[in-house]
Amino acid sequence: MSLFCLQQGPSWKEVLVYQCLCFVFNRGLPGKKCGNIIVKAEEMGNCRESVMMQFCGNKLDKKDFFGKSDPFLVFYRCNEDGTFTTCHKTEVVKNTLNPVWQAFKIPVRALCNGDYDRTIKIECYDWDRDGSHDFIGEFSTSYRELSRGQSQFNVYEVSVCVCVTLLSFLVDIEVTFLDYIKGGHSFLYLALLFHYCTLLLLSHYRTCFPGNPTQPTSLHYMSPYQMNAYAMAMKAVGEIIQDYDSDKMFPALGFGAKLPPDGRVSHEFALNGNPQNPYCAGVDGVMEAYYQSLKSVCLYGPTNFSPVINHVARYAASVKDGSQYFILLIITDGVISDMAQTKESIVNASCHPMSIIIIGVGPAEFDAMIELDGDEVRISSKGRYAERDIVQFVPFRDYTDRTGNHILSMARLAKDVLAEIPDQFLSYMRIRGIKPSPAPPPYTPPGHPLQTQI
Ligand SMILES: *[C@@H]1O[C@H](CO)[C@@H](O)[C@H](O)[C@H]1NC(C)=O
Repeated sequence: MSLFCLQQGPSWKEVLVYQCLCFVFNRGLPGKKCGNIIVKAEEMGNCRESVMMQFCGNKLDKKDFFGKSDPFLVFYRCNEDGTFTTCHKTEVVKNTLNPVWQAFKIPVRALCNGDYDRTIKIECYDWDRDGSHDFIGEFSTSYRELSRGQSQFNVYEVSVCVCVTLLSFLVDIEVTFLDYIKGGHSFLYLALLFHYCTLLLLSHYRTCFPGNPTQPTSLHYMSPYQMNAYAMAMKAVGEIIQDYDSDKMFPALGFGAKLPPDGRVSHEFALNGNPQNPYCAGVDGVMEAYYQSLKSVCLYGPTNFSPVINHVARYAASVKDGSQYFILLIITDGVISDMAQTKESIVNASCHPMSIIIIGVGPAEFDAMIELDGDEVRISSKGRYAERDIVQFVPFRDYTDRTGNHILSMARLAKDVLAEIPDQFLSYMRIRGIKPSPAPPPYTPPGHPLQTQI
């Protein structure tokens, strides 16, 4: 098997690539003999830096060059083919002889793609109301030059008698998701939940007896030959997530069912039948509990989301130091009976360390789920807005291409499902001002590739 090399990172995306590869290669592609795969990850430290810079302009000559000018600067990154891409524009300082532009922060990746010696071109213009800004002059430098800070090396002649001077240069290392994982944060304390009822089949459920999933039309249909959509989604996502959970014990709850012995409707019940200890060992344990519960409980509407969200939010609210982050995975057919309460619960939950992943199974319209996702419009309830985006919605049917490779589809599903989690996690840490714990040894020195054999 060939060498797979990750040049930059490892970023969260690359961790996912790695996970997906594990996923594919552990199981093997049908009909293919599998060999070894070596994943090489090189940490390019400079790629994670941001730099805060401030510039000023000086008129060195008595001639009134800057006179009534309104200067601004445009920064260009040099690409590998020698072309230039704008990467920053300063504000216009109006009517000045000696402009001092505001300090600005820019990722080093944007400035020079992490290459310290790459050319950075800076142009100086005199702003004009009609958009035909007058070119004053330009100069070139590099990150390495700029990093010398305020000194005679960083005074640049832009044109005759006009100089631009670097006032300050401050490097800041961006904190990434991986820093928190390296620092031993017990990430992804997963509550795996799924939702039982489908309105389409409610008539079956009304006659309520255990074992309804023997109906082939049910999304929970238990076939001896194939996993149902709930099971497939649970397995695909659970297997990826469980690698980030230290103890791999998942509390799994079901909702939308009638429970034995008295047939009471529950929106929050332990899948393994033990309310005192709803924890299942790994995804396999969850699957086992799921199949067992299908035999004993009876699927029943309405389907309320709010109780399960509040259930996890209660745990999440008790952890304030960032040492744990909760992921609630809801697998549902898209019918939602308590939209208003659910929105309020999400707004309430948005200030706790948790994210909600919703996977929609079945053929339903998922308009309600898309609204909860809040990617277009931040979710709100009674005029109160969610503190941050905590919901990610993915329709399962987009990943069940019967003609395609099932293993790759499931890997893609897991990747898309988890795509927003790192940012949601980081936004929580940022708002709370929680820094990653220092990474414990052993530490791979920079530039020394980390090799893992699967
Ligand atoms: C949201 O939080 C408020 C204040 O704590 C509480 O009164 C309300 O019941 C919560 N909403 C839901 C739907 O749980």
